[in-house]
Amino acid sequence: MSADLHYFDYAATTPADPRVITSMVNCLGIDGVFGNPASNSHAAGIKARGMVEKAREQVALLIGARADEIVWTSGATESNNLALKGFVEASGTVPHIVTSRMEHKAILDTAASLEQRGFPVTYVAPDQSGAITAAAVSAALRPDTGIVSLMLVNNEIGTITDIAAIAPIVHAAGALLHVDAAQALGKTPIDVKAMGIDFMSMSAHKVYGPKGIGALYVAREVATRLAPQMHGGGHEGGLRSGTLATHQIVGMGTACAIAMAEMETDTSRISALSDRLLDGVLAIDGVEKNVRDGVHLPHTLSL
Ligand SMILES: Cc1ncc(COP(=O)(O)O)c(C=O)c1O
Repeated sequence: MSADLHYFDYAATTPADPRVITSMVNCLGIDGVFGNPASNSHAAGIKARGMVEKAREQVALLIGARADEIVWTSGATESNNLALKGFVEASGTVPHIVTSRMEHKAILDTAASLEQRGFPVTYVAPDQSGAITAAAVSAALRPDTGIVSLMLVNNEIGTITDIAAIAPIVHAAGALLHVDAAQALGKTPIDVKAMGIDFMSMSAHKVYGPKGIGALYVAREVATRLAPQMHGGGHEGGLRSGTLATHQIVGMGTACAIAMAEMETDTSRISALSDRLLDGVLAIDGVEKNVRDGVHLPHTLSL
């Protein structure tokens, strides 16, 4: 991008980190790791599988999961679809779904399509500060609630949902918790175990990785509670068939490893930049900050 253009829309997508690009290119050509990771009868396939499993560990490490709890998908949209549709289809009943009005379209449209199929959905409203509170979620729960789906960080105003406070309430009601972490991965610490998350959607291209790759964290204890949405060769423990895209996966793994090492310093740098930008634009007549009282990530500034 030329020096006279300023790109601020990193919530929509980020450019890939040069280290990510290098790792990906190494998986494409004849001299690289181009084998099919499912071909376990020859060296090229075994090498590719090794790279895929290393990337799985890199993603898992960033969120406090075990490597075998990471299922590769094409991005957070697919992960959200797999979590919600997969859950209701595997349930064998007609579970009630709770989500919020401020979710990304990848959840809202999935919920709407499930509503059309007869699954009841309750949409929790955010409070004045743009937060989904534990009290609001609690009030939405019903005896037949099967799954609650909430975003960890909002894509437009950057507010952070207190998932650790909400998870015990959801579990006490006998439901499972899905979290859309597309905007949170690599920007704020995530520990899926400590936070009580059952399923979590992730995307690489919001965190300096490539587009077209993401993952769904599926806690080992609830792995049988999802029905696959993509049928075929039985890849990813039968949850998501299709030849694994080694270069994309390695790109996401590298992006997560970089985030793991640099998240703290990057967040301080972005905080300072955000404060500086805010100081400048608030001086302009009529400009106001939208999230005044709520907790939000410095990465997102809504004016
Ligand atoms: C909160 C949230 N969820 C889901 C998505 C969709 O992610 P992907 O582009 O990986 O499908 C986005 C991307 O804009 C997002 O911000």
